Amino acid sequence: MPGPSRLYIIGAFFLGVVLTGAWSNRPSKQKIRKRQLERLAQLDSNGDIKEGIEGCIGKTPLIKIKSLSEATGCEILAKAEFLNGAGNSPKDRVALSIIETAEEQGLLTPHSGDTIYEGTVGSTGISLAAICRARGYKAHICMPDDMAVEKSDLLLKLGAEVERVRPAPIVDQKQFVNLARTRAAEHTADLSKSGRGLFADQFETEANWRAHFTGTGPEIYDQTSGCLDAFVSGAGTGGTISGVALFLKQRLPHVQVVLADPPGSGLYNRVKFGVMFDSKEREGTRRRQQVDTIVEGIGINRQTRNFEVGRELIDDAIRVNDDQAKAMARWLVKHDGIFVGSSSAVNCVAATKLAKSLGPGHRIVTLLCDSGVRHLSKFWANTESIEDIESDLDLDEVLNP
Ligand SMILES: Cc1ncc(COP(=O)(O)O)c(C=O)c1O
Repeated sequence: MPGPSRLYIIGAFFLGVVLTGAWSNRPSKQKIRKRQLERLAQLDSNGDIKEGIEGCIGKTPLIKIKSLSEATGCEILAKAEFLNGAGNSPKDRVALSIIETAEEQGLLTPHSGDTIYEGTVGSTGISLAAICRARGYKAHICMPDDMAVEKSDLLLKLGAEVERVRPAPIVDQKQFVNLARTRAAEHTADLSKSGRGLFADQFETEANWRAHFTGTGPEIYDQTSGCLDAFVSGAGTGGTISGVALFLKQRLPHVQVVLADPPGSGLYNRVKFGVMFDSKEREGTRRRQQVDTIVEGIGINRQTRNFEVGRELIDDAIRVNDDQAKAMARWLVKHDGIFVGSSSAVNCVAATKLAKSLGPGHRIVTLLCDSGVRHLSKFWANTESIEDIESDLDLDEVLNP
């Protein structure tokens, strides 16, 4: 055999030996899978892997709002509730709490047609609709037709059934909360429909304030190491302010709890004077809107169980008008790159006013509830360009536009 051919044969022989060895030593499929699972478990123990979208609810960051802190000499901290992962607002906590409570009570069966009905200005509906998808339920949302259209569009994309109804007082059976309660009962009574209807009842259910008592409150306490002087929040159902107040006050009795309230809401007077009243609601002056403001999600003119459960722990109330809220929203974008919706802006105005009255050196915690993206067509519509705002705009001009 000629020399080069012999060399090829010897080379091929050794290559065969090496490949056979590598093949027989290759990790089996089970070994690979085991290693993958070990790696996943390791990541999971670091908290890097969440159990479904529900796992992305809570433990939101506490952000120092640098511009407001520098301008007031107080530390103004905001819980970034818009980073809750399902419906992107504090209502994720409430929706999950309502669903899990109903599941524990055996009231819901996945993929049976069971449907959750809720009356909401939007945020709770969005959270319910997302979590219902994840858990195998349907969602039917009744909401006032004057809320930003982004919210009902999003609900439809999440596959919820949406009924937009004319704003009406609570005594009207067509009012959005009453309608949701009726629709749930109709569903259960209708034997041609699969599953049953469950009314979420965010204004009255204990599951609402408890979500903040066991989640938002303890998180604020831990993130500040119990070192804070005041908590500021608006109230829609009242679940947030009551749940957080009930938790914080039992550990830190000196903490001031302050309500931020928009125009037309009766809560300001309920806190200050014990009566639910707003001058805009005076006989003969009543406007078409229940709460006369561009702000969505906070302010109400009736007593709810969720507000009343913590009311006596609320030390003070601060009124915030629409112009102040709009000016604050633009201030936050201009100085901090924070783009939020109307209730968050109201919270920040109230927190800043409180900082000015307390004086430098205090620490105040508030909430950033949802993103401005949900408010483009209403609260953020027709606002002047951020670049057009005077660069030396003073915070006093934001508080008194
Ligand atoms: C955007 C937004 N912020 C704040 C709130 C008020 O929270 P609570 O109902 O806990 O008082 C709501 C209530 O729906 C809301 O939608």
